[in-house]
Amino acid sequence: MTDYTGQLEKTARAMVAHGKGILAIDESQGTIKKRFDGIGVESTEPNRRAYRDLLITAPGGAEFISGMILFDETLRQSTAAGVPFPKALKDQGIMPGIKVDKGTKELPAHPGELVTEGLDGLRERLIEYRNMGAVFAKWRAVITIGPGIPSDACIEANAHVLARYAGLCQEQGLVPIVEPETLMDGDNTAETCFAITERTLHALFGQLVRQRVTLEHTILKVNMAVGGKKCPQQASVQQVADLTVRCLLRAVPAAVPGIVFLSGGQSALLATMHLNAMNVTYPKLPWPLSFSYGRALQEPCLKAWAGKPQNVPAAQKALRHRERCNSLACLGQYTEAVEKQAA
Ligand code: 13P
Repeated sequence: MTDYTGQLEKTARAMVAHGKGILAIDESQGTIKKRFDGIGVESTEPNRRAYRDLLITAPGGAEFISGMILFDETLRQSTAAGVPFPKALKDQGIMPGIKVDKGTKELPAHPGELVTEGLDGLRERLIEYRNMGAVFAKWRAVITIGPGIPSDACIEANAHVLARYAGLCQEQGLVPIVEPETLMDGDNTAETCFAITERTLHALFGQLVRQRVTLEHTILKVNMAVGGKKCPQQASVQQVADLTVRCLLRAVPAAVPGIVFLSGGQSALLATMHLNAMNVTYPKLPWPLSFSYGRALQEPCLKAWAGKPQNVPAAQKALRHRERCNSLACLGQYTEAVEKQAA
């Protein structure tokens, strides 16, 4: 069996390098259709390729972005110039990653709760992805807050599959991003989100240890402790920063090389402000706190593009601005003045 220890170490460290974060462009076919519907663009293979092309080839991305998470279809596509996307990323110094889960299904006998599928045949798929250039992977589990939920069954089932996935990734030399996402769709407070996230992370790290996953070669991707979208009383930026860091300190072992956040439906601005507040207030945590945003990085860019080739430079500029703002937020150096430097 090949020993991937050195490579896993190098990849994990590079993913959360100083001032760098991850751009998630791994929307499933259903999700990208929703995003394209929002700008009146049909979700066809050529349109998806064109959009991912502008994200992948945006000039100067490597200054702020360590890696990009791709969807299976994207890993197999090429730039307009015919360069395979994984190669186009590597040539710029950006690491290609791949979403390997197959989405969520209803958990039997647990109304309103989901479990993520995709373990069957995963070892073989990872070998293929590695041969195509992917050096890290992502698996997203979803935890829903509601009356009487999440159940222990939902948290434990998802923690178990996340750990099984992570073990397979490390065996095949890919760094696993383990992503338990507690949704922010409900009317719950940030304190409730904090408590559920803490419970989920304890279960997750218990399972990771049990499955002999090497924590030093694992990146955690998680939600912040925020109130649900329907909660009338939203926590302040500082409260979100304090709750989130307290939760992580309670539940995430110091051996983990880095923590990246998902944006989960936060506005682009709030996602940046929250990350910045954490890094300003807590500059000496055991792990770097960075970003792995999808929507919060892409939204302004997607709008600027609107499916028109002539808008590509403006769209790339909008993307670069959000990347820069979030890179500065990783260092606690984001300011209103920086935000206003948008074109
Ligand atoms: P959002 O930042 O849009 O939540 O997406 C990140 C992601 O990869 C979710 O799995």
